[in-house]
Amino acid sequence: MKVLIVGGGGREHTLVWKLAQSKKVDKIFAAPGNAGIAELAECVDIAAEDRKALLTFALEKKIDLTVIGPEAPLVSGIVDLFNENGLRIFGFDSRGALLEGSKVWAKEFMRKYKIPTGDFAAFDDYSSAQKALDIGSPPYVVKADGLAAGKGVIICETREEARKAIDSMMKEKAFGEAGARVVIEEYLDGPELSILAIFDGKDYRLFVPSQDHKRAFENDEGPNTGGMGAYAPVPLLDHDLSEKIRIEIIEPTLNGIQAEEVTGAGVIYFGLIITSDGPKVLEYNCRFGDPETQVILPLFKGDLFEILYEATNKNLESVDFENSEDACVCIVMASGGYPGAYEKGFAISGLEDADDQGSIVFHAGTAIKDNKLVTNGGRVLGVTAVARTLREALDKAYRGVDSIEFEGHFHRKDIGHKGLES
Ligand code: GLY
Repeated sequence: MKVLIVGGGGREHTLVWKLAQSKKVDKIFAAPGNAGIAELAECVDIAAEDRKALLTFALEKKIDLTVIGPEAPLVSGIVDLFNENGLRIFGFDSRGALLEGSKVWAKEFMRKYKIPTGDFAAFDDYSSAQKALDIGSPPYVVKADGLAAGKGVIICETREEARKAIDSMMKEKAFGEAGARVVIEEYLDGPELSILAIFDGKDYRLFVPSQDHKRAFENDEGPNTGGMGAYAPVPLLDHDLSEKIRIEIIEPTLNGIQAEEVTGAGVIYFGLIITSDGPKVLEYNCRFGDPETQVILPLFKGDLFEILYEATNKNLESVDFENSEDACVCIVMASGGYPGAYEKGFAISGLEDADDQGSIVFHAGTAIKDNKLVTNGGRVLGVTAVARTLREALDKAYRGVDSIEFEGHFHRKDIGHKGLES
């Protein structure tokens, strides 16, 4: 079978790595891919957002299954387009992608299907949004409705900060049309975790729950990033809490998706927070998480190709789905300056030594220049390790990190520590 992966980050390298282990997969293409992906797949120079070029490529190469990494192509309707042209694709249609593509839609969906989440109000009018701040009290969460490259959620400690956030979204159009509507939401406190489900429209299966580290620096300080590392499983999730999440959140969400007549099979990413009032949904995404994928797929014992392919046949029930009981950790090595401005093109060395230490190194922002591996993004590598315990996995992954060198790199030294404390 021929598979096309759309995207070129650490998540996509992990998907390619896992799909390449399937006996059913003969050939993988990646658009656009990266230097690590190029070791396992043929990379083609098509941007993930270029739906038409992707369609032409998939038709020409007679691709058997296309798998979408990032949210933007899903939100702009790549699944609808591929389906109209008779191509098999894993992902939800543009209606299902609204779970991530419109924060207003997602919050109204949660209200309609009684899924626990923070209180909120949605505004498409600037002065009503500003007036609403006088009724509530800080901290406020201000969210742009549409996709904003991970920057559209602003936590505001004061009313003044919230006023500025609304100004930047609705007046200054910092996120273009994505900020034409905003959600003002109750601030929730507690540990966060990510649960990813594969849903075929009828049945679902869950990967091991994981925890991301969104802030740039240790102790959850510094600016928000795409994610500086992840670990799984998450010890705070005992049997009772898992059951509560299944009954109050996961199943009502999947029933809601069916009731909304979403088509396609895809991933629902539940971004959860465990408050003193119980688990609540912070956000949904309609795709695999990054860097969560880097820790959940090494712990997945089944054949990922079979799972994704059969999900598109609404036949998830026919495939074995088993997660390992080991632990897995991914430490992101980032370019100096990330998530702000950073330089690219620095030579990367030491990957073989990291391999020898037992790590799996997933590439996020890398490229080959003059036959050398160089940095090509903010998040550069995800150094990942599996072991029987979280402690052992951390030791192995950090030994891998210590073997790797590129100018200006930094990483968090406390990935997974919350898991060790519980
Ligand atoms: N790790 C956060 C995300 O994938 O959205």
